[in-house]
Amino acid sequence: MGENTFSFGSAVAAGVAAMAAGGLFLWQQTNCLRTTAYTVPALPGFGGFTIAQVSDLHGKRFGKGQVRLLRRLEAARPDIICFTGDMAEERNRSLLPLEELYRGARCIAPLYSVEGNHEPLFCYAAEHTELLHKYGVHDVTNREELINYSGSAARIGGIGWAYPSGGRRYAFPEGIHLNRLPDILLVHDPNTIRETAGRTYLQLSGHMHGGQVALPGGRAILSPRVDSRRVYFPPYAGGIYNEKGTILVVSRGVGVSSNIRIRCFCRPELTVIRMQGGDATVSMSKCEKISHNFF
Ligand SMILES: [Fe+2]
Repeated sequence: MGENTFSFGSAVAAGVAAMAAGGLFLWQQTNCLRTTAYTVPALPGFGGFTIAQVSDLHGKRFGKGQVRLLRRLEAARPDIICFTGDMAEERNRSLLPLEELYRGARCIAPLYSVEGNHEPLFCYAAEHTELLHKYGVHDVTNREELINYSGSAARIGGIGWAYPSGGRRYAFPEGIHLNRLPDILLVHDPNTIRETAGRTYLQLSGHMHGGQVALPGGRAILSPRVDSRRVYFPPYAGGIYNEKGTILVVSRGVGVSSNIRIRCFCRPELTVIRMQGGDATVSMSKCEKISHNFF
């Protein structure tokens, strides 16, 4: 009897330990930030220019007052910080985590933002717009501005949520001219690259969450739902790509979707893009020399 009791007790203890270890692993995967840094050839006159990108916050908080996320941003020493959509979530009732991020980040660098698919549906859309004004965030949704850096200038702009039409092409908002896209383009959905490739220098996107639950090694299994369907092993799930000379950086995002509240093999990711070189001409050969650095 003693032996049976021991075996049963051992099995329970092993089960509890395994569950605790699994829970701890998933907690770490969902909450511990990582930074992915990319080096790309510089736009003319923009050697040394550094962009930090935060995507898909979905109202998540990283420490009191977003202290962990803000420390990461500060460490990147960015010239600008770009938010590439889904910072708020339609079902999340509090704007406080977002306000904390804007309040802290504006002391680090100028802020630029484009809407994702959640912002237009957000029940506090007007309050969110007020927050953007209050903290001086440049909302470049369907518009553009000039960035001046070391005596040179570049255009930064964004495209609002562009829903697929007919599954192949994107219905861009009126007034967006594909032949006059800005040098640095913020678009939430990276699949828009099918239309924007070769028409902008650097596109920053998010949306895919890196699959959120991925295979070991980080390969995304499922895409977010688009047009009521999901795609297995989706393209452009996260990382850096070169399409017809356009550099596309897709952030895996920092938050979680309202349907799946965990991340696995796809930790919350802050993306940093450093432009290197003096007056490098934008060309395919230069773009292919993109390096990936992790720290
Ligand atoms: Fe998202």
